[in-house]
Amino acid sequence: MTALKGKVAIVTGASKGLGQAIARRLAKGGANVVASARSTDKLEALAQEAPDRILAFPCDVTKSTQVQALIQFALQRFGRIDILVNNAGLGHFAPIDELSEEQWDEMMNVNLKGAFLACKYAIPHLKATEGHIVNISSVAGTEAFPNGGGYCASKFGLMALSDTLTLELKPYHVKVSTLCPGSIKTEFHHPKAYAMEAEQVAETVWTMVSAPKGVIYNQVIMRPLVPKNLLKKS
Ligand SMILES: NC(=O)c1ccc[n+]([C@@H]2O[C@H](COP(=O)([O-])OP(=O)(O)OC[C@H]3O[C@@H](n4cnc5c(N)ncnc54)[C@H](OP(=O)(O)O)[C@@H]3O)[C@@H](O)[C@H]2O)c1
Repeated sequence: MTALKGKVAIVTGASKGLGQAIARRLAKGGANVVASARSTDKLEALAQEAPDRILAFPCDVTKSTQVQALIQFALQRFGRIDILVNNAGLGHFAPIDELSEEQWDEMMNVNLKGAFLACKYAIPHLKATEGHIVNISSVAGTEAFPNGGGYCASKFGLMALSDTLTLELKPYHVKVSTLCPGSIKTEFHHPKAYAMEAEQVAETVWTMVSAPKGVIYNQVIMRPLVPKNLLKKS
């Protein structure tokens, strides 16, 4: 299927896990993909899988100058930006009084500021193409849990950013979608035994960005089904 033929997508956090699966899925769907993260070697290996479709560009999303360079790279190589997937993220899990200030700052900087920076510098170009922003939040962006204070705060913040962007960009026909997955089998943080495959979650991103022209998937929450033998009896 080549619904995204001629479209240009930037995917952050594409060196592994969900971001890598999203980059692969969008490339399979016909898009030219700029795959970005800090691990250059892993990005280069991904680009080798589809050299005509995936280009690697190293970028730390917490650094404004690097994010601006990423946007410029996509424009120079492809002349346009249609899709921005803000996927880069990480989590530290501990009670608030045990969470270090560095861990708090890192989550806010990557999960929230990184998305802000990428949006800030991509939006003028997304307006030009009537493009699409997909923010990868989490079930943790919809409900809090013990030990998740910093991570949940960063993802709740991302939900607020997404809602604001939805309203600000509506007049320009730039779509904004937020995906809130539950546990995924990646290196992120002890996935549940029955966690979703990254490819299953990437398929939802594909559904969002290939929606009909007049349709927006604003927000999707997706979780793995808990096996019956593990369901708590109430
Ligand atoms: N796994 C889950 O259960 C789960 C559930 C819900 C939501 N999520 C969300 O899904 C997204 C992807 O997570 P994942 O499970 O795929 O985790 P992962 O396997 O640990 O991958 C995280 C990605 O983020 C990148 N990254 C981290 N810091 C970065 C920075 N400063 N600048 C640029 N890239 C950075 C990493 O690349 P480098 O280290 O190479 O920079 C890597 O590509 C995250 O936003 C996460 O919060 C995950």
